[in-house]
Amino acid sequence: MRYHILKVAFLMVGVLLVIACNTSMTGDDPVENKVNALLSEMTLEEKVGQMTQITIGVFYNDNILDKEKLKEYISKYGVGSILNAPTVDGMSQAISLEQWNSLITLIQRDAMNTRLKIPVLYGVDAIHGATYIKGSTLFPHNIGMAAARNRRLVNHVAHVTAMEVRASGVRWNFDPVLGVGRQPLWSRFEETFGEDPFLVKVMGKLAIKGYEGQGLESPLSVASCAKHYIGYPVPQSGKDRTPAVIPEYQLRQIFLPPFRVAIQQGASTVMINSGSVNGVPVHASKYLITDALKGELGFEGLVVTDWEDIIALWKQHHVARNNKEAVMMAVNAGIDMSMVPYDLSFYHDLIALVKEGKVSEERINDAVRRILRIKYRLGLFEDPFPEPEALANFGKQGYRTLALRIAEETMTLLKNDTLQGHPVLPLKKGTRLLLAGPAVNSLAALHGSWSYCWQGTIDSLYPEVTKNIRQALEELNGRKNVISVAPPHFGKITARDIDVMRKKARNVDAIVLCLGENAYAESPGSINDLTLPEDQLSLARAAAATGKPVILVLTEGRPRIIREIVPSMNAILMAYRPGSKGAEAIANTLLGRSNPSGRLPFSYPRYTGNIIPYDAPVREGKYYDPQWPFGYGLSYTRFAITGFTLSRDTLTFSDTLSVSVEVTNQGERAGKYSVEVYVKDYTASVIPPVKRLRAFRKIYLEPGTSTTVNFHLKKPDFSFVGTDLMGHQEPGRMAVIVGDMKKDFYLKK
Ligand code: BGC
Repeated sequence: MRYHILKVAFLMVGVLLVIACNTSMTGDDPVENKVNALLSEMTLEEKVGQMTQITIGVFYNDNILDKEKLKEYISKYGVGSILNAPTVDGMSQAISLEQWNSLITLIQRDAMNTRLKIPVLYGVDAIHGATYIKGSTLFPHNIGMAAARNRRLVNHVAHVTAMEVRASGVRWNFDPVLGVGRQPLWSRFEETFGEDPFLVKVMGKLAIKGYEGQGLESPLSVASCAKHYIGYPVPQSGKDRTPAVIPEYQLRQIFLPPFRVAIQQGASTVMINSGSVNGVPVHASKYLITDALKGELGFEGLVVTDWEDIIALWKQHHVARNNKEAVMMAVNAGIDMSMVPYDLSFYHDLIALVKEGKVSEERINDAVRRILRIKYRLGLFEDPFPEPEALANFGKQGYRTLALRIAEETMTLLKNDTLQGHPVLPLKKGTRLLLAGPAVNSLAALHGSWSYCWQGTIDSLYPEVTKNIRQALEELNGRKNVISVAPPHFGKITARDIDVMRKKARNVDAIVLCLGENAYAESPGSINDLTLPEDQLSLARAAAATGKPVILVLTEGRPRIIREIVPSMNAILMAYRPGSKGAEAIANTLLGRSNPSGRLPFSYPRYTGNIIPYDAPVREGKYYDPQWPFGYGLSYTRFAITGFTLSRDTLTFSDTLSVSVEVTNQGERAGKYSVEVYVKDYTASVIPPVKRLRAFRKIYLEPGTSTTVNFHLKKPDFSFVGTDLMGHQEPGRMAVIVGDMKKDFYLKK
């Protein structure tokens, strides 16, 4: 009953918004006038063509582009959008900037030869840099970016990505990922900004700003795509694209806020989650798409499906009997564009549905308006071809420097023993090292998914200048001081490898063990067990048994459980998927050229049966038992927090609570530190989490210096979603937590 009242409420809000928008859009808005004028000239077929998105792979036969077929799709069917990189042997792969420019030119020429000359909107996945352009710079995946906690760098990375993508002639990027990563088994965990909704919200907003901030028409921008709306990262099975069950209040408390902020920030497009939430595939949910996203959140941009997801409504989810029914469901639910992506089934079925009156022309007009609006804003109607001025922004040397800086800031030091009075890390230059493990020579492990190809696993596609861990350590520590024993692949450590390692270890001072995961993307990365594979654990046991200090470096997209070996490793560095300059960042950190400052953006599990985010309302201190908690990360220097004060101890909902701390670098090295502020609610009508992150700031301090850091907490920081699904602020005792210090305050009406 309550659910229905709510749906009616959303609907009313939606209708009011649509009326408001339509009024504001009549008359003066030049884009809106052009859109309406064009729309009035379009036939039903042309409109539905605009809503159809096809993968470029459809036009490749034996690795050769079938230009006639491409022309047919554009001129005869008026296909409005194309995506993805060309396929070689069935897999989308990076091509050169010049090849991109010719491809886009060809496509837009075909489009310019159609009756209405509507340009094609081309979209790609540039997930951590320009994935599909040869020679581009790839940055750390989001999971590492979230560890770095550096707002400016997130923004900068997105801006560079936008410039490199735009240089190729493409103006639409299917990024950022705004899912909150709370299921580490899930194969796309590395694409998320981790388990905390606040962190995801802050980082996602900055990424959108980086993509679109210069204005869509600028050759420095691309249209962003906030994805995958909503609830994708928490499949119950842990497997990609499988059902999620999320209580409505949590959907709103945890998963909705990043999208709300993205829309406030002006994200142009949104992509839908391929899975289902509470029994309904999101692609078929009018409630989630039309009522909540377009109505309640006021999203005016374009909603695109994910890959083949209308077909999935009947083939996988079994909520429709056939394709036509699936198309009807999805379009009536609020989908504006279908990533079909292999055929014209959507096109034919949708035309028939409109003729039969099962999908209204108003719905079609609304969808096409949203598509045309973006094409106008991107400047495609003025000039759809690759822009010469954008070309100069590709491949600048500064991007690699940026990639190194950010990769260094992602490095998260999880353990650092003191042996004979000295910390194991940083290593002294010239220390004789043995490198062992499957990640020693692997570029794939450093990069993860979406790296010059979808799976990131084709070594030959990586630019020649990209170094692996062995090369970076040889360069920094001297070739003669580095020996290695590395199996050629993950999953292939043999007894012989272990034996060789034992022997070689005799002549070195320390072992650097490079373990983790090979690259994977989406469903191929699904696993059944979060524990690090047994062959890698055996190697680690053998390394520890040599008696030499062992430094474990983890390149992995999700936290693989290593409980058993943690005590015998003398130092542990979490490197996530650090990207193009990842190897240098690891080497610099191990040898102390760079001081690690990353802090875990998730709770690193200790047990397969204890996968609990830090803010889960479990009994305080009782069940939350990770290997390392959310926010954990060591440094080569020591930071002390003192002078923790609150501006008042009692406040009303309209007051601001100022929090102040003094941070001192008490060690001998300069370093960066993320100051994190949590709020705790002692009693609430919905079980309150132990604490919630509400603010953070990363600072830099020279040794022996201090600084005061101030934060200002406001009403939303003391709020939560109640069972009535509304925002609640309840009077009572609360606390602010910084580090291991806590100060209470009272909130009154
Ligand atoms: C992924 C999306 C991606 C799309 C286009 C899908 O399989 O789920 O994240 O944007 O493919 O490549």
